[in-house]
Order: sequence, then C-alpha cells, then structure tokens
Amino acid sequence: MRIYRTKNYDEMSRKAADLIAAQVVMKPDSVLGLATGSTPLGAYRLLIERYEKGELDFSEICSVNLDEYVGLSADDEQSYAYFMHSNFFDHINIRPENTHIPNGLEEDTALECHRYNRVIGALGGIDLQILGIGSNGHIGFNEPGDAFVPDTHCVELAGSTIQANARFFSSPDEVPTAAYTMGIRSILQAKSIVLMASGKAKAEALYRALHGPVTPALPASILQLHSHVFVVADEEAMSERFNPF
Ligand code: GLP
Repeated sequence: MRIYRTKNYDEMSRKAADLIAAQVVMKPDSVLGLATGSTPLGAYRLLIERYEKGELDFSEICSVNLDEYVGLSADDEQSYAYFMHSNFFDHINIRPENTHIPNGLEEDTALECHRYNRVIGALGGIDLQILGIGSNGHIGFNEPGDAFVPDTHCVELAGSTIQANARFFSSPDEVPTAAYTMGIRSILQAKSIVLMASGKAKAEALYRALHGPVTPALPASILQLHSHVFVVADEEAMSERFNPF
C-alpha cells in the first residue's frame, strides 16, 4: 500500500489523475474500473483537460463502473450512467460500446448480476480500479454487513448512504433504496487500485480502513489484503489519529 497525503481536494485530484493517466499511457487498452460521487470528479476534469491537450488517448480503453441505482434509467440525471457521460465519457474519445455500467432498469436482479459478472470476466478483469469511500466505509455500494459479497449483487442501501447521497436529489425520499454493485472479489482482483478520499467526513472510515481489522463491517478494510493499492487522500481525510508510515 502506498499512501499519498495531499494538502487538499485539488492536489488529491491531480495525484489521482496522474496515476490514472500513467495507466492509460503505459497500457492504452487498459480496463479502468470507474467510480462516481464527488470524490473523483476533479480527477475526471483533469483527465479531460489532458485529453484535450492531446496527451491522452482513450480510444482503446474499456471501462466498468462500480455501481448503479436500481430503478433509474441511463437518461435520468441522477443515474450513475448519466453522471459518467456528462462528467467524463462525453468529453473524451472512449468508445461508448467500451463503457459498461449496470443496467438500473433491469428488474430481474439475478439476470443483471450475472450479465455484469460476465462483462467483467469477458474484459479479462480490471487493470486499475478507482474507488471512493463512503463515510460508513463502503466501496462501490458494498455496504457494511456480516460477510463480504464476492460478485455483482443487488443491495439495499444503508440509511446513512441514502442520507449522504440525498444531496444529489431534491429530497431524501427520491434516493433509490437499492443499487447494483460490483462485488468485493471483482474489486480485489483489479491489478491496482486507487482509493481516493477527501474531507473530514471520510476521516474515521479511512482510518479504520487502513489501520483497523479487516472486516465486512467496514468493507474498505479488505483493501489491506491487496498489494497494489494507492491511497490518495487529503489532510482532512487523514486527520483521524493518522500516523503516516
Ligand atoms: C457513493 C458511491 C461510491 C462512492 C461513495 C462516496 O454512494 N456508490 O462509489 O465512492 O458513495 O461518494 P462521494 O465521493 O460523493 O463522497
């Protein structure tokens, strides 16, 4: 595990963008595992800028997103598909057919989970996985629980997650209560992982993820078992009793 402590959100974004850009340059046909949320937005903006300057080419890149809300279509402004298109895909030369996101409209959850596992498998796994972290320690939408769930599954969202994500909706009642998420095994099988965190609200979860016991009660703690994790976090996210190595 390599830890980059940055001054603020902007520096975190620059460091994460550097790592992702290096992956794209070194392996132009990489499979990128992508995340949504406020955390990676700055990094996506910087990657777009580098693409516009001609420094990056995404034409052979494939992507698999971590998760999607159940019940939202790709046209819904609150869906993660919409987020990815408006904040990243539509501004770079990635081929739409090379981008993959769970289908929130598929009502047959077993079918959709099976389909998405096959998508990940057919791509040969993930080269670089980008992760944010929930304030309850979730990664993707792998919520705290009694066991790590290995593959894509449909999950009931924790109350704290619904509250945290309500800021993107007009009211908490509009936040979907379920989501499809990539499972822990797919995430852990990525060749390398960039875990990003910013702000005080993430400090306790990040501390426990890095220094606490490996437990499904804090899903991000499983990252301690992965040998190529880059943690890129700002001072506030690292402010919880943090003791840099
Ligand atoms: C969301 C997403 C996660 C994301 C996390 C943090 O619920 N499912 O993939 O990493 O919560 O979000 P944010 O970056 O907005 O704090």
